Formats: sequence, C-alpha cells, structure tokens
Amino acid sequence: MSERRILIAPSILSADFTKLGDEIRAVEDAGADMIHVDVMDGHFVPNITMGPFIVEAVRRATDLPIDAHLMVTNPDEFADPFIEAGADYVVFHAEACYDVAELIRHIRGRGVKAGLAVNPPSSADLIEPHLANIDLALVMTVNPGHSGQSFIADVMPKLAHVAELKAERDLGFLIAVDGGVGPKTAGTVVANGGEALVAASAIFRAGDIGEAVRGLRGAAESALPGAA
Ligand code: DX5
Ligand code: ZN
Repeated sequence: MSERRILIAPSILSADFTKLGDEIRAVEDAGADMIHVDVMDGHFVPNITMGPFIVEAVRRATDLPIDAHLMVTNPDEFADPFIEAGADYVVFHAEACYDVAELIRHIRGRGVKAGLAVNPPSSADLIEPHLANIDLALVMTVNPGHSGQSFIADVMPKLAHVAELKAERDLGFLIAVDGGVGPKTAGTVVANGGEALVAASAIFRAGDIGEAVRGLRGAAESALPGAA
C-alpha cells in the first residue's frame, strides 16, 4: 500500500442545518479529516450561502480543521473575517483575485493556511506561479454554485498536471478536488493525483452519513497505487 494518504473533506453545503452539530460529529466519528465550508456571494457564483458566523458555529462543533472555500469576488476583503471565525484554511479563487501573491502572504502571515482554487474552464497556469507558496490547491470539477452537480471528467488532465508540478518541484501543498466527487468518481480523482476529496451530496444526502464517509474513503483508497 502506498504511503499517500487520502483525506476526506465533507462539505456542509448539503448538511441538514437543523442538526448541523450532529451531522458534523457523525462525519468526524466516521473518520473525516476536515470540514469544507462553501462560501458563495451571489456574484462570483449564482448562489448565496454561508458567512463567517457559520464557520464560528462549526468551530464550536469540532476540532477538525475547517477549510473555508471563498467563492466571492472580493476574497481580499473576506479573508480576515473567516480567519477570525476560526478557519484553518482560507481558500480563494485565482480568478477572483487581483494580487494573488499578496493575499497568500496576508493569510499565511496571520498563521492560517492559504489555498488557491481554480474553476474547470481556467488553466492551471493561473495557480502555477504560486504553488510553492500555498498550502492547498483546490481543483474544481464542477462550475461552483450548487452541490449535486455532475463531475466534469475533462478536468482530469489539469489535475494530473498540478500533481506532476507538485512532484517535480517537491512541494508540500495538498491537492484537493471539489465537485461531483463520490464513490463512482473517487477512483479517477485519486488516479490523477487528488489527495483531499471534498464531497457534499455524496456524504450528507446518502442516508447513512458515517457509511458514506467510509465508503468514499474505501473507493478512493482502492485507487491508490499498490492497492489490491
Ligand atoms: C461547488 C462547491 C462544492 C460543492 C460540492 O459549488 O464548491 O464544494 O458544494 O457539492 P457536491 O459534492 O454535491 O458536488
Ligand atoms: Zn467547495
């Protein structure tokens, strides 16, 4: 078995918010590695979701790392409120930021991990100059806006390219994949270099949340090089 470890990052976008704390505990008990919070502003994406107060609530519900995925047009104005709310990772879109290097510096300067997200139509060139300075690359496999969309397999060559760059340069950032990830797509994600699997509907709409986390991990791990 390879030493590469798969991380499971449930996205609470599909959680039942009348019992958010219970659902977070269920994914934690099932071995989830981090909690993904999808922040949408109604401008960068056609939907409005959660603000820093949700991150504050998640922070009180779990000690797992929280990654705040900012799908907003002005991430430079919103990094600080999410850091103050308790996010461990602040992930913003390269497409939405004028001075990417400066925002990475700012986030890391506050002792928080910085992540860069890239949408399906965007080239990896958008994040390539920053790979040595980030903690996480979030490769989107849907056009962000809603959970429950279909996985865009055309993104796989870009994911593999990001993984190659990481290996060639011996970098430490985590490669996360977000959108349409579930037991059926986990194998191709892992085969192309994905390390952290973000999943909303495949976990929170699956019936048994704990089973869904374990099933996703099993599907992902069986695609690791050297797995039986
Ligand atoms: C894209 C969000 C994703 C999304 C994932 O709109 O950034 O995190 O909620 O949802 P599923 O896993 O259902 O595709
Ligand atoms: Zn997301």
